[in-house]
Amino acid sequence: MKHYLLAPGPTPVPPVVLQAMAQPMMHHRTPEYEALFAEVRRDLRTLFQCKNEVLMFAASGTGAMEGAVVNTLSPGDHIIVVQGGKFGERWAEICQAYGLHVLAVTVPYGKSVEPAMVAEALRRAPGTKIVLATHSETSTGAIHDIHALAGIVRGTDALLVVDAITSLGVMDLPMDSWGVDIVVSGSQKALMLPPGLAFAALSDKAWARVPEARLPKFYFNFAKERKAIAENQSAYTPAVSLVVGLRESLRLILSEGLPIVFARHDRLARATRAGVQALGLTLFAEHPGAACTAVGAPHGIDGGAVVKGMRKRGITIAGGQGSMKGKIFRISHMGYVDAFDILTALGGLEMVLADLGYPVTLGAGVQAAEQLLRQ
Ligand SMILES: Cc1ncc(COP(=O)(O)O)c(C=O)c1O
Repeated sequence: MKHYLLAPGPTPVPPVVLQAMAQPMMHHRTPEYEALFAEVRRDLRTLFQCKNEVLMFAASGTGAMEGAVVNTLSPGDHIIVVQGGKFGERWAEICQAYGLHVLAVTVPYGKSVEPAMVAEALRRAPGTKIVLATHSETSTGAIHDIHALAGIVRGTDALLVVDAITSLGVMDLPMDSWGVDIVVSGSQKALMLPPGLAFAALSDKAWARVPEARLPKFYFNFAKERKAIAENQSAYTPAVSLVVGLRESLRLILSEGLPIVFARHDRLARATRAGVQALGLTLFAEHPGAACTAVGAPHGIDGGAVVKGMRKRGITIAGGQGSMKGKIFRISHMGYVDAFDILTALGGLEMVLADLGYPVTLGAGVQAAEQLLRQ
């Protein structure tokens, strides 16, 4: 059976990237690796839209999240977390694991934070060291207005730390010009790679915090990594094959051009939304992003049954996580995905919904998406 991977990570890997990763192993303490890494360093800065180095770790994205916390904070520090889904909650969980004082600015799942709520929290907690937010909340499909949050945090002593794990390479996030202090991401989303690489980029304001941060750390030591990177090296053994693949995926993204990559994601997201709405389904997020579309399971139908039915037909999408289990399902349009993947997902969805007894006009979702995609 042919398989279609349309879950919000891991995402499909392009053949040219797979092929590059299948090359014989190279040693990392060699001129060959250093030349490869020099290109990757340069292209990562372009992708992150920042002037400082982008640090890279052999970890899933959560590793870079933890790194951002331990490299900027000390025991007992106060932080603000913006949360409206599972990944905002993860920021809080990491900070609680290190005994930090967490003030949560919480919105219901599916909603996006009002920037004024964060301004108010900062007024109430003037000693706050960092504000942690999620650009694209993958568990609900919602986006938070990072540009507005950066405008608020920039005028304070706090740092703005952003989880861009499903927004980097999907939606515009010009880190330096918006004034975001730390951006973290991972390889298995819009970077079109297997899981296993985590990234973190820091502003000058964030780097100034690093020497005074006293939380314990060893592997995720940003200062140590930055020193190694200056020599086109990493402090420890890098995930060599993934870095080889990364060179190819960055070439793909940058040769297409960031504005075009963002426009492509936006178009696929709009087509997906048009398709599911034409089937009478509702979008879960009030302000949906371009990484994935979260769809409310129709009344009387378990979202998990939709995911299972799709998988039986060869299409992998994702269900709801945690308290969202059974209530929603999520279709990704992130990374190596095109118009025909979306039509496949919608066609499959129509058949599965019909199988489950939902009144659906076969072709209605596909038609709505096609109308948008042929423009
Ligand atoms: C927004 C967001 N943050 C964090 C993570 C966690 O990343 P990882 O599973 O790579 O550790 C994910 C993964 O789906 C995510 O989508």
